[in-house]
Amino acid sequence: MQTARMRSDEIFTLLRNDALYERPIAERHRLVFYLGHLETFEWNLICAGLFGLKPVNPEFDRLFAFGIDPTSGSLPNDSALDWPRESEIRAYNQRVRAAVDSCFDRAAREKMDESLFHVAIEHRLMHAETLAYLLHGLPYSMKQSTVSPRPSETEPVSPRQVRMPDGTATLGLERSGDSFGWDNEFDAHTVHVPAFEIDVYKVTNDQYLEFVRVGGYEERSFWTASSWDWITASGIRHPKFWKPVDGGWQCRTMFGDVAFQPSWPVYVSHAEAEAYCRWKGRSLPTEAQYHRAAFGTPGGSERPYPWGHTPPQDAHGNFNFQRWDPSPVNAHPHGDSAFGVSDLIGNGWEWTSTVFAPFAGFEPFPFYPGYSADFFDGNHFVMKGGSPRTAARLLRRSFRNWFQPRYPHIYASFRCVQS
Ligand SMILES: [Fe+2]
Repeated sequence: MQTARMRSDEIFTLLRNDALYERPIAERHRLVFYLGHLETFEWNLICAGLFGLKPVNPEFDRLFAFGIDPTSGSLPNDSALDWPRESEIRAYNQRVRAAVDSCFDRAAREKMDESLFHVAIEHRLMHAETLAYLLHGLPYSMKQSTVSPRPSETEPVSPRQVRMPDGTATLGLERSGDSFGWDNEFDAHTVHVPAFEIDVYKVTNDQYLEFVRVGGYEERSFWTASSWDWITASGIRHPKFWKPVDGGWQCRTMFGDVAFQPSWPVYVSHAEAEAYCRWKGRSLPTEAQYHRAAFGTPGGSERPYPWGHTPPQDAHGNFNFQRWDPSPVNAHPHGDSAFGVSDLIGNGWEWTSTVFAPFAGFEPFPFYPGYSADFFDGNHFVMKGGSPRTAARLLRRSFRNWFQPRYPHIYASFRCVQS
């Protein structure tokens, strides 16, 4: 929890002056909401929910309880003045943290079930990542950092595919095991995956540039009806993380614009990734195909990580807060899978063609029934892997992320497959 707090606190130290009251993404809350939300969530879940403690601030416990799902359709219209002062929220946070710490101690003494504590820690770490997306969209003048947006360099990428033989993939987590997982990770089950070909690397900015140059955003046939309506209505003509400059492009990093980075993975919405695949006559991998390429081996056994059994280390990929931005897709050969597929964990979540839905045996967490179930609506797609801002503990094989298809603000990449 201390590490998770360090990660979420770090985000707020990047904000200048009144940036805390900004709303970088129209469909989401102002940043100030998140300053209170993490403590409120932990208070409601653990201090009030598990131990029945008396509230320190019932108004805040309600105000900061729930985020906004951008699929709801309507935009929030609160003003900055509707929110409490930063000093009041910070005082509340201090009291809640002390209470949460005592609850952790008490639970350890009484050898209580640890699930709720894992939920609190992982919830905070996930917000450390989603807060990074929000800050990415803020004007640079509202952020302060000593990090220079200097990109790393590698050999140019030579895109190619590898043939995956017919085999099986194990998805999900054993309920009888002792590792923590969210409700949507259960139960474990095996899927047969017919042979297919998969890109060795994530699709790069350079590859995607070709799609933009040939008029991919103007060609109706590459898009589904709803995606076409979306790019037409919103005037989207290129990835959100690119900026048009003098007839060329720059990359919008967390702390400044840099020269176009041909070897970085392109970050796009599911709709844009799908359109690219259609142009190529290929498709996005299913969740099972991703598992097969990442965790399968030519001998038939499966491993917890693409590189084997060792827990994630920096050399395996761009994750766990090492960087604020992508690295070249060929920068981490130590992370290659047994089939020679690169960059599967970190450096950008990977879109799949799999609609987010429960595995057989799914049971919602009684203390957080809507965590996954609210999104089993046929309009969210599974993402696997992780981004530069994904904590190491969320890189477990069974972890599933999901997002709606027409939301261009997240660190989401993709690769193509052919059956
Ligand atoms: Fe939350």
